[in-house]
Amino acid sequence: MSEEKIYRTDSSRPLVELTHVEKHFGDLHVLKDINLKVARGEVLVVVGPSGSGKSTMCRTINRLETIDSGDIRIDGKPLPQEGKELARLRAEVGMVFQSFNLFANKTILENVALAPIRVRHMAKKEAEDQAMELLARVGVDSQASKMPAQLSGGQQQRVAIARALAMHPKVMLFDEPTSALDPEMVNEVLDVMIELAHEGMTMICVTHEMGFARRAADRIVFMADGQILEEASPDEFFDHPKSERAKDFLSKILTH
Ligand SMILES: Nc1ncnc2c1ncn2[C@@H]1O[C@H](COP(=O)(O)OP(=O)(O)O)[C@@H](O)[C@H]1O
Ligand SMILES: [Mg+2]
Repeated sequence: MSEEKIYRTDSSRPLVELTHVEKHFGDLHVLKDINLKVARGEVLVVVGPSGSGKSTMCRTINRLETIDSGDIRIDGKPLPQEGKELARLRAEVGMVFQSFNLFANKTILENVALAPIRVRHMAKKEAEDQAMELLARVGVDSQASKMPAQLSGGQQQRVAIARALAMHPKVMLFDEPTSALDPEMVNEVLDVMIELAHEGMTMICVTHEMGFARRAADRIVFMADGQILEEASPDEFFDHPKSERAKDFLSKILTH
C-alpha cells in the first residue's frame, strides 16, 4: 500500500493520538504513560495543578519537546523527527502560549502574514489579504499597522490566535492563553476561542477558566503528577469528580 493510502483522511481516526507517552526531565518523571485520543472537531480541556505536566504534554504534540518513548500521531502520521517534515507538522499544529510571543519589531499585519509567506510560499498580497480577514475575525483588524507593544494583552493574544490560524492548522493547542491577562481582557480571548470551537476547530486547551471549560469543552482531562487521572464530560467532571486529587483541585479553584 502506498503512503498516500495509509495516510489518507479518515474521519473516524483520531486527529491527535498519544500512546504510552513517557517523558523525563533528568530524574523527574514528567509524563507517565499518557494515552489520549482527540477526535476531529473535538474540544478537549486539560486541567490540573501546576507542575502536573500539562504544558509538557502540549509541547510534545508539536514536538517542541521530544519524548522518551511511546508514540504521537497527528491525523494518523507519526511525528517526524526533524527537517522539512517537522516544519510541515508544526504548521499543522497551531499553538498559543500564555505569553503573547509576537514578533516585537513587526507590525500586527506582518506578524500574521509572515509564516504563510515564508513557510507556505504564499504570495505577499494573498498572505496580507488573508491576515486582514483573520484579524477581522478576532476583532483587531483596526490595529493592523501597529506594533505589538501598542496593543493591550487581550488584543495581542487575539493576534497570536490569528497568526496560528493563518497556517490553517488541523488542531490548535492553547496553553493557559488567558492566565497572563488582566481580568477584564480574559473574556475577549475566551470568546474568540468559543467561536473557533463552534466553527468545528479541533482544540486542546490548558486553562484554569472553568466557566469556559464547562461551556466549550466536549471532554475534560485531569492531570496530576504526570498522569491522566480522569477523563470525563464537563458535567461529570465538575459535578462528580472521582479521584481525591480532582476533588481537592476543584475545591481550591472553585472557592477562589
Ligand atoms: N525544560 C525543563 N527542564 C526541567 N524540568 C522541567 C522543564 N519543563 C518543565 N519542567 C518540570 O516538569 C514538571 C511539569 O511541568 P509543566 O509541564 O510545565 O507543568 P504544568 O504545565 O502542568 O504546570 C514541573 O515539575 C516542571 O518544573
Ligand atoms: Mg503549564
